[in-house]
Amino acid sequence: MEQLSITTTFNVYPSAAALPADVQQLMEKAVAARNNAYAPYSKFRVGAALLLDNGEVVVGSNQENAAYPSGLCAERVAIFHSGAVYPHAKILKMAITAASEGRLVDSPIPPCGACRQSIGEYELKQDTPIEIWFMGEEGKVYCSESLKNLLPLVFGSKDL
Ligand code: THU
Repeated sequence: MEQLSITTTFNVYPSAAALPADVQQLMEKAVAARNNAYAPYSKFRVGAALLLDNGEVVVGSNQENAAYPSGLCAERVAIFHSGAVYPHAKILKMAITAASEGRLVDSPIPPCGACRQSIGEYELKQDTPIEIWFMGEEGKVYCSESLKNLLPLVFGSKDL
C-alpha cells in the first residue's frame, strides 16, 4: 500500500482590521448580511458576501425554518443567489462571518460540509479558485486561497 497525504494551508490574519482593504470591505458587507439573517431557532447568525469578476457583490444570510432541515446556510444562499443573478460571472472571493446570541464568537467559523460541496461545484464550474475568508464576530480571520483547502477530495462532475 501507499499513503496519500494532503496538506492544506490557511493564511491567518489577527483581526478584520488587518485584512487587505478590498477584503475588509467585503467582510463589512458580510457583517451587514449577517444582521439580516433569519435565525429565530438557533440564534446563530451567519452572513456571506461574494465578490464577482464583474465587480458586483452578492450577499446571503442563513434562513431558518420551523421545519429545521428546510432552512439554508448563508453561504449557499449567497452562492445560489449569485448563480441565479449572474450565471456567467466568476466568483473571486467569499467573506463569511458568524455571531451568536449565546456567546461571543471570537474564532473563525468555517463553512459546513454541505456548503463546501456547493462552493466546490462553482469552483469546478468556473475553473478558477475562490478565496474563502472566514471569521467569527471578532478575532482571527482565516483565508483559504481555494475551496480545495477546505475540501481536498471534492466530488464533482468528473466523478459521475
Ligand atoms: N449555518 C450557516 O449559515 N453556515 C454554516 O456554514 C454553518 C451553519 C447556519 C445554519 C443554521 O441556521 C445556523 O447556522 C446554526 O447551524
